[in-house]
Amino acid sequence: MEMINVALPKGRLGEKVYDLFERAGYPCPSIREPNRKLIFENEEVGVRYFWVKPSDVAIYVERGAADIGVAGKDILLEYSPDVYELLDLGLGKCRMAVAAKVGFRENPASTLRVATKFSNIASAYYAEKCRDIDIIHLNGSIEIAPILGLSDVIVDIVETGKTLLENDLEPTETIVQISARLIANKSAYKFKNKEVLALKERLAELLEKQL
Ligand code: PRP
Repeated sequence: MEMINVALPKGRLGEKVYDLFERAGYPCPSIREPNRKLIFENEEVGVRYFWVKPSDVAIYVERGAADIGVAGKDILLEYSPDVYELLDLGLGKCRMAVAAKVGFRENPASTLRVATKFSNIASAYYAEKCRDIDIIHLNGSIEIAPILGLSDVIVDIVETGKTLLENDLEPTETIVQISARLIANKSAYKFKNKEVLALKERLAELLEKQL
C-alpha cells in the first residue's frame, strides 16, 4: 500500500487535528506516547505523520516532503503556496482583524502605520481600500506595537479577544474568517489520488456527522 505522508501542525491545533484523523480511520497510537519524536508511522493503515511548525506545513506540502497537511487559512492567504486546498476542517476557528488602542481615531490624511506578521494580507486589504499604509513587519507580540507608539494599528489573529482586551486594544475591522484547511501537494494529488481522496472523504463524512 502507498503510504500517505501527513504534515501536522505541532501544538494544540495539531492534537485536535490528529484526533480527527484517528477517528477517521488513520490511527497511529505511538504518536500519543510521551516523547519528542517528530515522525510516526502506521504501516497497517498506510499513514506517516510529521509534527512541523504550523507556519511551515504549507512548505512541506508544496515541495512534496509531505503529501498532505493541515494549515491555517491565514498561512495560505499570506504565503499563497502552490497546493490544493481540499477541505475546511472547521478547527482552529478565529479571525484576522485590525485592532487599535481603545479610542484610537484614524487620521485619513496621513499614512496609517500597520504592525503585523501578515504583511501580504494587510497590504492586500488596504490596497483594496486605496488606503496609504506603512507596513511594520513583526514576528510576534504584535499587540505591543500600538502601545509603544510603533504603529497606529495591528493586523493580527483574534480568537477569544482576550489578548486585545488585556492590552487595552480593541478590534476595529474583521478582514477574514480563519480555520484549519486540509491541503495536498499537487503531484501527490495526481499520483496518490485514490489514497488522498479516500482520506479526504473519510474526514468529510466525520465532519458532517459532527454537525
Ligand atoms: C495569536 C495572536 C494573538 C492571540 C489571540 O498569537 O497573535 O496574540 O493568538 O488570541 P486571543 O484572541 O484568544 O487572545 P499566538 O498564540 O498564535 O502567537 P504569536 O504571539 O506568535 O502570534
